[in-house]
Amino acid sequence: MEQTLNLKQAILDLKKKKNAIILAHYYQIPEIQDLADFIGDSLALSQKASEVDNDVIVFCGVHFMAETAKILNPGKQVLLPDLEAGCSLADSAPVDDFAAFKKMYPDHVVITYINSTAGVKVLSDVICTSGNAVQIVESFPRDQKIIFAPDRNLGSWINKITGREMVLWNGACHVHDMLTTEAVLKLRLQHPDAAVVAHPECNAAVLQLADYIGSTNGMLKFVKSDWHVKYIVASETGIIHQMYKDAPGKEFLVVSANETCSCNDCPYMKLNTLEKLYKCLLNETPSIELDDEIIEKAAVPINRMLTISRSAGLI
Ligand code: 13P
Ligand code: SF4
Repeated sequence: MEQTLNLKQAILDLKKKKNAIILAHYYQIPEIQDLADFIGDSLALSQKASEVDNDVIVFCGVHFMAETAKILNPGKQVLLPDLEAGCSLADSAPVDDFAAFKKMYPDHVVITYINSTAGVKVLSDVICTSGNAVQIVESFPRDQKIIFAPDRNLGSWINKITGREMVLWNGACHVHDMLTTEAVLKLRLQHPDAAVVAHPECNAAVLQLADYIGSTNGMLKFVKSDWHVKYIVASETGIIHQMYKDAPGKEFLVVSANETCSCNDCPYMKLNTLEKLYKCLLNETPSIELDDEIIEKAAVPINRMLTISRSAGLI
């Protein structure tokens, strides 16, 4: 306990000394969420990263998030506590395979989920997050042909609600995709008074059972304002910490991928620890480094996303 307090104080002291800001995603461990200067989902974090004036950004999230922060702030140092904090969804679209796929659809625009590598972003016309995907897609004329990558679950949910027929890349987040209807229905039988909230990275069968589908911030807003007092949450476990803070007195039950393990803890997000956060601030490594050309090209679709999101009043 005392060691944790000392570590937290040491992080705060270093942060001040180095004029650093700590940005964290809701899937981080609670200790990191509580220590961060700013906590958000992918959309809120990208917006925040676009307006930071500190010298150093410590990104407590995964690699593609830190990479996005670097693309938006090429002159700043961007640190990621553990360089191994990757993403199975971003990994599901290797850049060469994606380039070959894109060539098969020369008259399509490419809308890419932010959970992708910088190389895939370079091949994209506009980026989206789960918090703005519908508005980004709807910003194109109805007859515009679209490739949506890399999340097939998010893509098919958007196809369903917009009536479009976007061509989908066949990728998925292993954490959300693993959640089953059996697990949701079991909880629903035990708690008939609970509402089901789900992230659109879940598969279509699970989404079918949800009373509300939305991004991390969307789900947080929903449980705060909705009248239910109990929720079954089909998403990553980290979100629960903020749900209890935002909606005190309510109860949250996480859909487990499996009875014997907490498989819906994202193993990449959970690689970041207070100790690694301290060490990366102290040693200023691991630091995100990208080619200038990649930064310049990947910034175009990311900034396009931010512009559309601003004009849609989403950020
Ligand atoms: P959001 O936080 O944007 O909802 O995305 C969820 C996720 O899986 C992040 O990796
Ligand atoms: Fe990637 Fe899924 Fe982890 Fe998000 S939860 S970082 S999409 S593996």
